[in-house]
Amino acid sequence: MSFKIPELNNPSVCMRDPQRVQDILMSMQKSGSNTLQVISDFDMTLTRFAYEGKRCPTCHNILDNSKLISNDCKEKLKELLNTYYPIEIDSSRSIEEKLPLMVEWWTKAHDLLVEQRIRKDLLATVVRESEARLREGFQLFFNHLHEHSIPLLIFSAGIGDILEEVIRQAGVFHSNVKVFSNYMDFDESGVLKAFKGELIHIYNKREGALLNTGHFQELRTRPNVLLLGDSLGDLTMADGVQDMENILKIGFLNDKVEERKQSYLDSYDIVLVKDETLEVPNAVLLYLTDCCLIYSIS
Ligand code: TMP
Ligand code: MG
Repeated sequence: MSFKIPELNNPSVCMRDPQRVQDILMSMQKSGSNTLQVISDFDMTLTRFAYEGKRCPTCHNILDNSKLISNDCKEKLKELLNTYYPIEIDSSRSIEEKLPLMVEWWTKAHDLLVEQRIRKDLLATVVRESEARLREGFQLFFNHLHEHSIPLLIFSAGIGDILEEVIRQAGVFHSNVKVFSNYMDFDESGVLKAFKGELIHIYNKREGALLNTGHFQELRTRPNVLLLGDSLGDLTMADGVQDMENILKIGFLNDKVEERKQSYLDSYDIVLVKDETLEVPNAVLLYLTDCCLIYSIS
């Protein structure tokens, strides 16, 4: 099949139904970029999974590996990661089975972080000294959305304060970006005392979306959605969108590729296998905003 977007022929791209992808893309392009909104996960979707053979940190890992955490606590957080991450990506367990275990992981991790009396004024330094890495092509992604006034919702089960700092330091925290995430609550002396509001974990993004009807109400003139995620839990991030017309779901499959490929192909329209770049989402965006020519000559 010949695509209008040549990047869809990249070796990392897998699709169960290329014709459906083509149809959705054409319908979205016809509607125009003023009907588009983008909803993206953060960890391992906008950030890299690995760099030079080494795993890159999630928002939580940025804190866990930092000087703000005692060695004893680091050990406990690592134990949690070693216990629960394999469950997160285990394709033999259902989401229903994983859900209470994910709540357990997030709750235990947040309780440990609160015990560390983390100072708000040190977060920027911790992020600067970390190995956090946005995916290649992130400038084009964020800047293009901003230039075209397309709203970007970053919907993350990570830590909002850390995530914001990562994109601020990268110079891409533009005015069109909104974040739903777990935010830290500090006492009057700037020490972490709790996490605010309802916990967002990897499998309750639907509930998080439905709590934020105001945001989706504001965007009701944008019924076309580009969704980016790396977990099957990310598929519900757009459940709050009102009067949706089209949705194109792009999923990064970073880990346990063989076991998980079929389930990703069944639920994401485009699956990017071990692709550390935003090349394909960027090409899709350029197509949807009629900028293919600029893209091909730049
Ligand atoms: P995301 O919704 O932005 O992808 O963030 C969720 C990721 O955070 C998920 O892949 C698991 C990861 N995580 C950690 O790395 N450490 C932790 O302590 C917790 C609770 C989650
Ligand atoms: Mg993720």
